[in-house]
Amino acid sequence: MLNDNKELWVSVLAAAIIAGIYAFVIYFTGKVPAAGEFFGHAIGILGFLLMLMTEILYSLRKRSRSARWGKMSEWLRFHIFTGLVGPFMVFLHTSWKFNGLAGMVTWLTVIVVFSGIIGRYIYTLIPRTSDGIELETSLGGAQAAAIAHARRLLALWHTIHIPIGMALFVAAFVHIGGALYYFTFLK
Ligand code: HEM
Ligand code: HEM
Repeated sequence: MLNDNKELWVSVLAAAIIAGIYAFVIYFTGKVPAAGEFFGHAIGILGFLLMLMTEILYSLRKRSRSARWGKMSEWLRFHIFTGLVGPFMVFLHTSWKFNGLAGMVTWLTVIVVFSGIIGRYIYTLIPRTSDGIELETSLGGAQAAAIAHARRLLALWHTIHIPIGMALFVAAFVHIGGALYYFTFLK
């Protein structure tokens, strides 16, 4: 599973289309879209919704253990797609200013996305069924030791990707609450 890079190419294509729309908006308005104005706001909200889907859907499917909801490998692909495209949209929302808490939310997002790319690589080193269940290997020697090492590495990796993801959402909700209160409602 995940041995081709289909979800990465689809994400790059989606990001290129979104970047094209962003360039079009700059061309017509003559300026970089501000985070609190219509386009910047909309792209921030849509990107954040994709990030929320990234956080929630794969975990729900992983715990349901029911094949009725579709293959785990396809949910992980979707996790990666929304986990790349959502942060990309949020990045365009920032108007390239990274002050205070909002700047910190951006950095946490960058860390979670880059750790995800590394995790995807480690994940594919472990033999699995298409439903994500790890296969016991009958191989001996160096190859079995390499797989055991990858398993330990993935467990360690989970302790980075998941808690930083949670910290990111706590900080993002504070940013959203503050931004809406001071910028939108008090205006
Ligand atoms: C993880 C998601 C998000 C990140 C990383 C993020 C990041 C940022 C950054 C870096 C800025 C610019 C701050 C500055 O001027 O230095 C900003 C501004 C802003 N954001 Fe977000 N944002 C996110 C989601 C959202 C969402 C979902 C909303 C709306 C519901 C929102 C509303 C705003 C508003 C209104 C501003 C303008 C504030 C101002 O100019 O004072 N953001 N955001
Ligand atoms: C907004 C960005 C992201 C968030 C919030 C996020 C969050 C999470 C969470 C909560 C899990 C744990 C699922 C579970 O075990 O219940 C997870 C797992 C994982 N994520 Fe992400 N992720 C993001 C982006 C990415 C990206 C961009 C990639 C790859 C390019 C990625 C690859 C993975 C992999 C390989 C796993 C492990 C799957 C497993 O062990 O079953 N993530 N992510």
